[in-house]
Amino acid sequence: MSDDPVEYVVENKPCLVSLEEGKKYAWCTCKLSKTQPFCDGAHKGTEHRPMVFKAEKTEDVLLCACKATKSGPYCDGAHNNLEDVYAEASDAEILSMKDSVQIDQDANGKALVDGGAYVMTPNDKNDTVVGNLRYQPVIAKEDGATKLSLHRLTVSAGTTKWMEYEGVDTVLYFVSGAGTVDIAGREFNVDKEAGLYVRPGEKFRVITDEEMVIYATACPLLTDLTVTDDNETTFQTEQEERYIAFDEATANVMANRIYQELVDKKVGSNEVTQFIGQIPKSRAAMHRHLYEEAIVILTGYGKMWTGTKVTEVKTGDVLFLPHRQGHSVECTDEGGMQLMGVFYPSGSPAINY
Ligand code: FES
Repeated sequence: MSDDPVEYVVENKPCLVSLEEGKKYAWCTCKLSKTQPFCDGAHKGTEHRPMVFKAEKTEDVLLCACKATKSGPYCDGAHNNLEDVYAEASDAEILSMKDSVQIDQDANGKALVDGGAYVMTPNDKNDTVVGNLRYQPVIAKEDGATKLSLHRLTVSAGTTKWMEYEGVDTVLYFVSGAGTVDIAGREFNVDKEAGLYVRPGEKFRVITDEEMVIYATACPLLTDLTVTDDNETTFQTEQEERYIAFDEATANVMANRIYQELVDKKVGSNEVTQFIGQIPKSRAAMHRHLYEEAIVILTGYGKMWTGTKVTEVKTGDVLFLPHRQGHSVECTDEGGMQLMGVFYPSGSPAINY
């Protein structure tokens, strides 16, 4: 019989646990504990020690089980890089979902799948028109969103009126076209594949010579877009940097996928994280996030599986995922898929369970 200690980490995935404020916990660092992710004393005789920490608040968190995290005891997504290929749906998982009900879009372009998640195709007919600005909600309170809303803005040549989501963070993503965004008197040149952060209390407008498609996320309260003739707000100079463009050369590698955070804490967005991701032809294993998320398919096509239902997704579609809703995006396009995601609360898009 081997004397090697037995590792009890069965899966390279984090553990969802409920912490109680003020309580101390001992996180296993050695993989030997049978009560993952916590210590059961099995490290005795090794050089390992548990990491003891005190919960700052009562909350559900994802604690690392794979022990590769650099943010122990919390999962930082490092488990995704322990294999060459991102966790894909197993044969058993695919078999278990073979009878999923195919959901087609309704008359409003929406396909509602499990748990309030949906895929929708924006229809120009639903736009509200104000001068050279057209806009429509694609994720709102009426759709079941609790933390973030999403509008599609289409701007033709000219200067828009001033826009604002009152009192909340606004995160813009530029899908197509280029121009200038004036945030309360400070101008930023913007181009596609980039994000821009507008702080609460700032209005913004768009100046362009060509048609631009922009997605605007408001968070963490659901407010509608207000459009006005005048701007009485001022640019908040304590946060000068606001614009982040996608740069494949510096993006994060996650097995056979890449992603890059655009707007996040580095530009002062503490509530919302925005990212761009590229996935090859593949079907991810079902997973969940602790955050509420909106996704826009930038290129490619495939399917979204949610447990008992499945629906088609294609370039231009918007996906809404309530927090903790199991899902798997399958890319069936040989050329892969590119998507933009935005979620609350902020964090890493690599963290899932
Ligand atoms: S489980 Fe270890 S980093 Fe996610």
